[in-house]
Amino acid sequence: MSGATLRLPGMTDVVLPATGVPLPPVPLRMGGAHFREDADFVAAAIRDVALLQRHAGLTRESRLLDWGCGAGRLAVGVHQALGHVRDYHGVDVQPELLEWARENLTDEHTRFTLVDQRNERYNPEGEAAFAIPADRGSVDVLYAYSVFSHMLEPDVRGYAGSIAEVLTPQGRAVMTAFVENDVPDWEENPSDYRKLPWKGRLHCVRFDRRFFEDLLWDAGLAVDEFVYGRETDGQSLYSLRPRAGL
Ligand SMILES: C[S@@+](CC[C@H](N)C(=O)[O-])C[C@H]1O[C@@H](n2cnc3c(N)ncnc32)[C@H](O)[C@@H]1O
Repeated sequence: MSGATLRLPGMTDVVLPATGVPLPPVPLRMGGAHFREDADFVAAAIRDVALLQRHAGLTRESRLLDWGCGAGRLAVGVHQALGHVRDYHGVDVQPELLEWARENLTDEHTRFTLVDQRNERYNPEGEAAFAIPADRGSVDVLYAYSVFSHMLEPDVRGYAGSIAEVLTPQGRAVMTAFVENDVPDWEENPSDYRKLPWKGRLHCVRFDRRFFEDLLWDAGLAVDEFVYGRETDGQSLYSLRPRAGL
C-alpha cells in the first residue's frame, strides 16, 4: 500500500495502487472514528485476515462467510492480503452498504447478499428471522466482527444456532462480543461501561461471560479460543466450532 495518497482526510473511493481495490466512502464505513482514515481501515482489514488465519485456519481455499460485513471491510483485507479466497460471501442488512460493496468489490470469488432481517439499530423494519443465507455445512470460516455486540439475547441465541448449522464439521466462527465476569446476564448500553458514550439502540450489548458461553453451547457452538478485551472498544474475541454430535 502506498501510504501518502491514502492518508488524505475525507477522501472517498480511493483506489489502492498495489491491487486496485477501491475503499468505501467514509460515511459507509462501520466502526466510526476507528476507520475514518483510509490507512487505518485497510490496516484493520489486513489484520483481521491474519486473525482468521491464526484462529480459524483461513486459507485461499476457504469458503468464508462475512456475516454483518458492512461495506466489505474484510473483503478489502482479503484482496490485499491473499488476492482472493475460494468464496468470500458478505451478508448484511443495510442496502446502501451492500450496494456499494456489490458494485465495487464483486468478482468471481467475491459476492454479497442483502438480507432484510430486523436489527433495531441497523434495520428496524426488517423481518424477525434468524436465517443466514448459506447451505447447511457449507462454510469453512464465518467471521462476525462487532455483530453480536449489537444484538439482544434472543437474537444471539437464534443466530448462533444458524451459525452452527452453516459451518462445516471442521469449520470455525470467529466473532467478537462484549463479555465480562459477574455482570447481569445481558444489558443494553450499560452505563459507565468502559467510559464510552453509548448512544441509541443496541450500541453496546454486554453479556456475562458464563451466560454467553452457555448460550452458545446450547445453540450448538463450543468455545475453542477466547481472547479478552483486545478488540474494538474492548470487545473480546471468540473462535467457535460446531459442537460435535448435533
Ligand atoms: C459494527 S458493524 C461491523 C461491520 C463489519 N463486521 C466490520 O467489522 O467492519 C455491524 C454490522 O452488522 C450488520 N448487521 C446487524 N444485524 C445483522 C443481521 N441480522 N444480519 C446481517 N448483518 C447484520 C449491520 O448492518 C452492520 O453493518
